Formats: sequence, structure tokens, C-alpha cells
Amino acid sequence: MNKTKLKLGTNTRLAHSGSNPRDFHGFVNPPVVHASTVLFPNTATLVNRSQKYTYGTRGTPTTDALATAIDELEGSAGTIIVPSGLAAVTVPLLAFAASGDHILITDSVYSPTRQFADTMLTRLGVEVEYYDPYIGAGIAALIRPNTSVVFTESPGSNTFEVQDIPAISAAARKAGAVVMMDNTWATPLYFKPLENGVDISIHAATKYPAGHSDVLLGTVSANEQYWQRLHDGFIALGCCAAPDDVYQVLRGLRTMGIRLDHQRKSAFDIAQWLETCSGISKVLHPALPSHPDHALWQRDFSGSSGVFSIVLDKASQAQAHAFLDALQIFGLGFSWGGYESLAVPVSLSDRTLAKGDYDGPVIRLQIGLEDIEDLKADLTRGLEALSA
Ligand SMILES: Cc1ncc(COP(=O)(O)O)c(C=O)c1O
Repeated sequence: MNKTKLKLGTNTRLAHSGSNPRDFHGFVNPPVVHASTVLFPNTATLVNRSQKYTYGTRGTPTTDALATAIDELEGSAGTIIVPSGLAAVTVPLLAFAASGDHILITDSVYSPTRQFADTMLTRLGVEVEYYDPYIGAGIAALIRPNTSVVFTESPGSNTFEVQDIPAISAAARKAGAVVMMDNTWATPLYFKPLENGVDISIHAATKYPAGHSDVLLGTVSANEQYWQRLHDGFIALGCCAAPDDVYQVLRGLRTMGIRLDHQRKSAFDIAQWLETCSGISKVLHPALPSHPDHALWQRDFSGSSGVFSIVLDKASQAQAHAFLDALQIFGLGFSWGGYESLAVPVSLSDRTLAKGDYDGPVIRLQIGLEDIEDLKADLTRGLEALSA
């Protein structure tokens, strides 16, 4: 059965896409292929590389299974799998930006993306310019003849500004720049970058696809126009992922729709409740009608994930620490998308444009799979410590 040709719901696709059990003697999961060397039957086949698999860095049945599953979700021509979400940012940037180029990056970007651009890309002779995430079609005014990449991330890291991706993509494409998007927050379940004009869709699969805070992985998916160049860059860099991690993410993908749906509901419920709590001046969650980008989010996204931020009302840093230290269920730690709730203080010190209008410390919350009432009780403990 060719499942790619059937019209299927998202969870059915997540449960079945990627590999064909008939290719593996009927076993429902593909094998975890640990590989460097692949043998060829004769010299002609070796010299011409005329067989499907040729070397471990270039793909295995395990990486193909995950890449195929992601292609089905993204509607992409091809997907590369790299060892972390950060590598899913750096590999396409290295593949497409060259010395003498100018690239545009949203100021609301994930901080390590900025660090990579400001250090390595700059050293390689790429001019990096940050733009206001709310620029929309106005990006056209910043595009120069040598602008090779427009990098987007929506919603923005930690502060959740929603970008007008179709407008930005249309302007960038018209000028011949490749549009990249870090779509980790929404996953391809809640936003489809390629259908909205993006050329290259980036995911930290470490988050929702892996889902259990134990694996680092990244995926990068390209449309037909840019797939070959992305793949060439990936092969040149040798930045391939370990087979056990790839397998774990394929395994995580099977339940991602269910987990994400639960986390979406819990996070939205908690975000609504937090809006009514004293001690909090703002809840930065695009699915809330109070969020300034709610209409844009509603236009382009089909759901919201489980991570958002709160602004503590005119609190000091010491009060913010008291809030965090009082939490017993929320762990203090980076990352998100796992089964457990987390909280971290947010620093916006590297931003130049998207500094926001926040009258107190910003704290990011990742809502896990725990019971909502327990999470609310924990946040109440934090708010009590804040006001003590
Ligand atoms: C938006 C975004 N992109 C990329 C990454 C990087 O992912 P990883 O931790 O797998 O390197 C993160 C990690 O927090 C992230 O939040």
C-alpha cells in the first residue's frame, strides 16, 4: 500500500509514515543501522556509486525512514537529519551563505542562532543584519542585490512574536533570496512553512518529535528548488546524526500528535488562568486573544504548542528567582517539548530591535504532560513566594 497517496489524518500519518514494514520482513519498525562501511558487489558498482547506500554519512534505512516521514509532514522534496536543533540552523546557513553575501535574521531569533551568525558567519565574510520580526512585506526595503538568505523564526524565541511569513517569503523570493524558517515551536502539525512560501524548514527535533528530554536531533527540509544544494552542503559538512537518536525520534514521532495536543490544551488552559493571577502583568502566548499577534497566529497556524512566557508585574530579579525557586514540579532547565514541565528566566540582552514592552522579568514556561491542577498549584507556590 502506498500510504503517501492516501488522504490521511495527521495522527494516521504520524503512525504509519516513514518506512514500509514489508521492506524489513514485516517488522513494523525499521532497523537501527549502525554504519560507516557499505559493501559493493563489484568494482564497477563501487566506482559509479550505483547502489542505494554507499557510506554511513550519506544515509541509511534508519535515516531514510525518518526523513521520509518528515517529508510527508512538511511536503518537502528532501530532508536532512543532523545531530542537534542548532546544527539544523547552522548547516543550511553554511550551505547557502557565501563570503560577500548579506543575510537578514529576525531579531527575535533563538540566541545561539544569533551567536553563530555573529561569530562564524561574520568571520567567513557574511554580513549579518537583524530585522524587526514585525517587518512583514517591509522586508523588501532591507533586501540588497547580495542578500542570499532571509531567516525567520515564528513565533520568536521566548517572547513569541508572530511573523507574517507569507508576506516576508513573497518579498524575499521575488528578490531571489532563500527563505529559511525555524518552525520548532509549531512543528509541521500546526504550521506548514513550505505551504506559506518558505524554502527551507528547520526543526529542533530535540523538542516535540523526540519528546522525552533524552535525545538531541535536528531536521532540515527543503523544497524542490533548494533540495540539491542543501543536500550537497550536508554531505560536504559530514554533519550526520547517530542512528540510535534518529530511531528514537522516529519512535517519538508516532505519539507526537497526541502529546502535542495534550500539551497544547494544558498550556492554553494554564496561560488563560495565569492572565487572571495577580503578580503577572502579561502572558505571552499567541493563542490568547490578548496577544498582539493573535489574529496573525489565527490566520496562519492550526494550533499552539506548550511553551509560552509570563511577565512578572514590576518584580525585581530577586523576586523572579524566588518565584522560580519555589517551584517543585516545574524543573529549572533549558529546552522544551519534553514530557516534563520546565521554567527558565529569559534574557533579552542580545536583542537590538525586539526588546518588547515588558515591565518586569520574563519567565518562559514549558508545559509537560503532568496534571494541570498540579501545575497550577505549583505556579501558585511560585506566585506566593513572589509576593512574600
Ligand atoms: C527555536 C529553537 N531552535 C533551535 C533550538 C536548538 O535545538 P537543540 O537544543 O537541539 O540544539 C532550540 C533549542 O532550545 C530552539 O528553542
